[in-house]
Amino acid sequence: MMQPPFTSSTEPVSPGGAGFIRRAVCPGSFDPVTNGHLDIIGRCARLYDEVVVAVFINQSKSSLFDVEERREMLAEATASYGNVQIDTFHGLVVDYCRDHDIPVIVKGLRAVSDFDYELQMAQMNRGLAGIDTLFMPTNPEYSFLASSLVKEIAKWGGDVSSLVPPNVLTRLKDRTSDSR
Ligand code: PNS
Repeated sequence: MMQPPFTSSTEPVSPGGAGFIRRAVCPGSFDPVTNGHLDIIGRCARLYDEVVVAVFINQSKSSLFDVEERREMLAEATASYGNVQIDTFHGLVVDYCRDHDIPVIVKGLRAVSDFDYELQMAQMNRGLAGIDTLFMPTNPEYSFLASSLVKEIAKWGGDVSSLVPPNVLTRLKDRTSDSR
């Protein structure tokens, strides 16, 4: 049972005990997925029974890869994880959580600069629908990593091979070689 909006109840949203499946969602744009995202997804997959990586369909933001391409790249890169599914969504992430009986959002935090906005969204999402957000500190190796930087570097022919999985590297090379 989901909590009513804007309460501070600590009632569990799902019953515990046998048969209780712990689910989490990792939402994002993933344009494209990076090794930083995969670090968070992989660690989340060790903590939860099922993890859904949900690609946000944002009509008002231009992207290098369309939603289906982003979904495919994530599916390829997480194929070995076993308990990770990829999905897409539009609208509010809390509605996605409610529709799929997912009580928690997991987000990576790279640096304090991420914190203000992420905290604001987490508190709003908790208030809107009782969905909690857990923050996972990014591996320091990836604290500078962002999809936007990867795209910028790839566009000008820079080496991003240590920043993205091989399947993404191939697609980035194909996509950006046309625009140089
Ligand atoms: O990878 P990004 O672009 O940082 O991901 C941001 C995302 C998609 C997780 C966030 O914008 C989101 O949850 N969008 C869905 C709409 C929504 O629920 N907004 C939050 C309102 S508090």
